[in-house]
Amino acid sequence: MEKFIFYGDGSRGQETHQSLINSTIIAKSDAELENLLTNQSLHIRCTIVNLPIISLELVATIKKIRFNRPLVPITAFKDPEKDYTSEIQRTLFDLSIDFLIGTDTDLDEMNELISGNNKSTLHAIPEHEDHYPDVEKESLLLNNNFFSIHIKDILPGSISHFDIYIKLRSDKYVKIFKKKDSLPPERLKNYVEKGVRDFFLLKSEHEGFLKFCDDLTDSLLVQQGQMNSWMSPILLLGDQILTSFELNGVNPENILYAKKFLEKSLKLTKNILGQNNKVQQLILNSLKDYQHTTTVVILGGMLSRTLGFTSRERIDSIALSLMLHDLGLNYIDPKFKNMHSTKTLSSSELEEYKTHSFKAYDLLKEIPEIPQVTLQAILQHHERRDHSGYPDQLSGAGINFIAEIIGLCDEYVCYLEDNNFDHQGFLNIIDTDLKMKFSISLITSFKAIFGR
Ligand SMILES: [Fe+2]
Ligand SMILES: [Fe+2]
Repeated sequence: MEKFIFYGDGSRGQETHQSLINSTIIAKSDAELENLLTNQSLHIRCTIVNLPIISLELVATIKKIRFNRPLVPITAFKDPEKDYTSEIQRTLFDLSIDFLIGTDTDLDEMNELISGNNKSTLHAIPEHEDHYPDVEKESLLLNNNFFSIHIKDILPGSISHFDIYIKLRSDKYVKIFKKKDSLPPERLKNYVEKGVRDFFLLKSEHEGFLKFCDDLTDSLLVQQGQMNSWMSPILLLGDQILTSFELNGVNPENILYAKKFLEKSLKLTKNILGQNNKVQQLILNSLKDYQHTTTVVILGGMLSRTLGFTSRERIDSIALSLMLHDLGLNYIDPKFKNMHSTKTLSSSELEEYKTHSFKAYDLLKEIPEIPQVTLQAILQHHERRDHSGYPDQLSGAGINFIAEIIGLCDEYVCYLEDNNFDHQGFLNIIDTDLKMKFSISLITSFKAIFGR
C-alpha cells in the first residue's frame, strides 16, 4: 500500500491538519526516516517535510530522501511569514521540492495535490522557465553508469527530477523522460504493459544533485552566521603559529604547522570565493579580529586563485611567502613588533623599520625548507614598480610577481587597519595612488574579487 511519510519539527507538526497526521507514517527522528526510506518493501506515495525553509536541516533531509528515493515526491510547508523571493523559489525548485503546502492542508487536499488535480489552490511551487537544454528523448547510451528505480517508486503525474531511461534487451539505455518532465500516467502504464519494471537514472546526474545539496549546506553555514564555526579554528591556528614564530623563532616544527595551516587556508579561500558578494563581504569584515599576517594569507590566497595559478608547487610557495613576509619585524627593535602601518614613524625610525624585509631574508635563507622564490618574494615585498619601494628601489621587471601579490594585499590590509575597515576608500586609491606601483594584471584581478 502507498504511504505518506511525515518528518519534521514536532512543534511545527502540531499545527498540521489532524487528518493528514493520522494517515501518515511519522518519522520522529533522522534514524527513523532513514529506516523508512531504505525499507524497499515500503511504497512511499509522498514525503512531507515540516522544516524551516531554507534551513540546514531541510537540505540535509532532502539529500537523504533523494539519496534513497530519487523520484518520490517531496512536499514542504510554506512559512506564512517568509517572503518567497524568486531566488528562494529557484532554490526550492533546484532542491527538487515538488509542492509547498499550507499547514491547514487536509488529507483530501493532499491526495488531490499528489494526483495533480488541484495544484493552484495548494501553493504548488510556481512553474519556472525551463533552464535545461533540450535533450533527445530517444538518445541511446551504451555505458553502464546507471542505477535502477523500481516502477513502484514512480508516482504517475508527478515531475521527474532526473532524466529517466529504460534498458533495452541489447543492454542499451534509452532516455524516455527528461529532467522536469511530468510523468503522464498513460505513458507509464504503457511501459508497464510492455513488461518494464525498472527505470534507470544516470549515476552522475544523481551525484550532481547530492553535490548541489552539499554546496547549499556550505553556503547556508555562512549565511546563517555560522561561518565562525568553520573559519575561526583555521584563522586562530594562523594566529597561534605567528605567535610561535615570535616566541620561538622559526624552526622546522612551526614551519610544518604553518604548512598545515596554509593547506587549510587554501581550502578556506576556495570556499570564500564560492560565496555570493554579500557573504564574501561579511567574511572579509570578520577578518579584522585576526592578526595582520593571517588576514594577508587569506586575501593573498584569494587573489592567487583568481590569478589562475595551478601548479601545486607555485601555490605552496605563494602561501608560505604570505605567511613569512613580515617575520623580520620580530628581529628589529621590539617597538616595531606587530607594527604594520608606518604613518607615525620618524624618518630614522622608518629607516630601521625598512630593514625588516632583509632581516627575514637573511634568517630564512639558512633554512632548507624555504624555496628560493619565497626568499626573493619576502625580500621584495615592499618594492614597488615606480621605484618608490625598498630595500633596493627596484622597477617593474625586477620585482618577483609573488612579492607584488604580498605587497598589494599588505597595502590593502594596512589601509583597512588604518581606516576602520573602509573597503570603499581603498578601491578609490587603487586606481590613483597605487596604479603605477603594481602590475595591471594584478590590479585587474584584485578588482575582480574585491572591487564590488
Ligand atoms: Fe612588511
Ligand atoms: Fe605585512
